[in-house]
Amino acid sequence: MASSTTVKIAEFRRLLSHAHSVLVLTGAGISAESGIPTFRGAGGLWRQFKATDLATQTAFARSPSLVWEFYHYRRELVRTKQPNKAHIALAKAEKRFEKEGKRFNVITQNVDGLHRRAGTKNLIEMHGNLFMVQCTLCQFIEENDSSPICESLRNRGSPDVNPPEIDEKDLPRCTKCKSLVRPHIVWFGEHIWDDVLEKIQKEIQLCDLFIVIGTSSVVYPAAGYASILAERNIPIAEVNIETTPSTSIATYHFHGPAAQIIPQLLSVNLNNE
Ligand SMILES: *[C@@H]1O[C@H](CO)[C@@H](O)[C@H](O)[C@H]1NC(C)=O
Ligand SMILES: [Zn+2]
Repeated sequence: MASSTTVKIAEFRRLLSHAHSVLVLTGAGISAESGIPTFRGAGGLWRQFKATDLATQTAFARSPSLVWEFYHYRRELVRTKQPNKAHIALAKAEKRFEKEGKRFNVITQNVDGLHRRAGTKNLIEMHGNLFMVQCTLCQFIEENDSSPICESLRNRGSPDVNPPEIDEKDLPRCTKCKSLVRPHIVWFGEHIWDDVLEKIQKEIQLCDLFIVIGTSSVVYPAAGYASILAERNIPIAEVNIETTPSTSIATYHFHGPAAQIIPQLLSVNLNNE
């Protein structure tokens, strides 16, 4: 590793040791390192569809069967993947901070639940979670991690066939009122839930060190949080496999895989357990 990077890591660790309220924002990049596709951009199709064709209220109203097949596919795919060293290091750092009576919170844009599986407790899943469902009638929200989520979806969701539609009555149903449920995910064209926005705002206010992982600090939502924090002179570290545009206001850039960089930044030793 280049010596300038070593110096930056040492500087960052010094800041971290003085921080009382660390806030981390993670995006698709940290999941990609666990082999989880985003269904966005090149090669991101499922059947002939982009995520923007499927993850919408309109698509669900037109064909709940098609949309459930897509989500069933993603749920089952995520089960075959594991949290990586970045997820694990974040969970361990949280424990250490809590022991020292300090705050450590993770906001994630990812819906795969890998932070939970890694053991992160102070977690805000701003776009929801693949393993939560919400009733389309009574709005009840519940966890459902059954595999498959319902019998009619068993062996369905294959990306390269177009089977007949599943009858709506055989799709996942609410345990309270038996109506159709949908994935509890913020779809395109929908707003992030108010309680989630409130929690995020609170963390932004308390934050004295901000770490952005696997997403760019120049795109929404990281850019919005970063600009608020930069005005308060809160240090911002960005860890990204993509090169950082010069417009970034991040204090530190660490270019490379999060699974390699995050354990070093957080001084988490993952080898001798
Ligand atoms: C998940 O949903 C299915 C279909 O509605 C239901 O049969 C199953 O019991 C649910 N599983 C859990 C763990 O709630
Ligand atoms: Zn219901």
